[in-house]
Amino acid sequence: MKRFGNDECWCGSHKKYKKCHEKFDGRLQYLKKQGYVIPKRAMIKNDKQIEGIRQAAIVNNGLLDYIEEHICAGMTTQQIDDMTVEYLNSHDASSADLHYEGYPKSICTSVNDEVCHGIPSDDVILKDGDIINVDATTCYKGYYADASRMFMIGNVSDEAKQLVAVTRECLYKGIESIQPFKSTISDIGRAIETHAHQYGYSVVREFCGHGVGLSMHEDPYVLHFDPHCPTTVLVPGMVITIEPMINAGERFIHIGSNDWTAYTDDGSLSAQWEHTLLVTDTGVEILSM
Ligand code: MF3
Ligand code: CO
Ligand code: CO
Repeated sequence: MKRFGNDECWCGSHKKYKKCHEKFDGRLQYLKKQGYVIPKRAMIKNDKQIEGIRQAAIVNNGLLDYIEEHICAGMTTQQIDDMTVEYLNSHDASSADLHYEGYPKSICTSVNDEVCHGIPSDDVILKDGDIINVDATTCYKGYYADASRMFMIGNVSDEAKQLVAVTRECLYKGIESIQPFKSTISDIGRAIETHAHQYGYSVVREFCGHGVGLSMHEDPYVLHFDPHCPTTVLVPGMVITIEPMINAGERFIHIGSNDWTAYTDDGSLSAQWEHTLLVTDTGVEILSM
């Protein structure tokens, strides 16, 4: 159906189409003619939604800061889960992880060769030399934000330090690749992969970033490698995560007996960093910061 300039925009802003996404749609149609895969409208957030996601990201960051302040050797990963519940409760927020497809806890805590989805436990005691990824997804007033950080416990080997640093660089290479109306999901993946390979590291392929905001996982998938096929072009209003999982050894993984936690097949260390990002008219804004 043809949309007229005075009709309400499809984005839910309640503005006139001609004052909202008319020009945007024109640019997308032009890109489509050039052969780009263009995003579905459901992938485009309006200003109110972006503000909601921004507020959720502030709470999620506060949680990660709180964990960062307290995490130390001798602590169990269950205590990290306890901190999460306490922090989110006292901030009028909740964990999106809890009960997600049956996930039993409120946060993911992945230690050493655990790639992702480490389940907090009384039995996992952090010790000197461990590296751990803490991945939090907060729901606040119906909006979602998702971010993770690595923490180094006490004296960590130079190898582990380098893996943690380079994985963070991979995340930022991915972020810096984003050019609105120009770059694609594949460009993010290629930037990450190229950087990781320079250090002899490998990129896990089984898990990827994703759209986020109105729920925890939305379209599109955000690959951390170049699939060498057409992928969605990045445009203003898209909110996505980038969350590369980088292994010191081979990229292959398996799922453990709890049916959740992924481990490197070769037992090598794995690291991950994640941000929630907004594609803007001029570039990208890191919401989870
Ligand atoms: N935070 C994860 C992500 O980055 C998802 C958590 S899975 C859950 O996408 F099972 F723990 F909820
Ligand atoms: Co996450
Ligand atoms: Co995520």
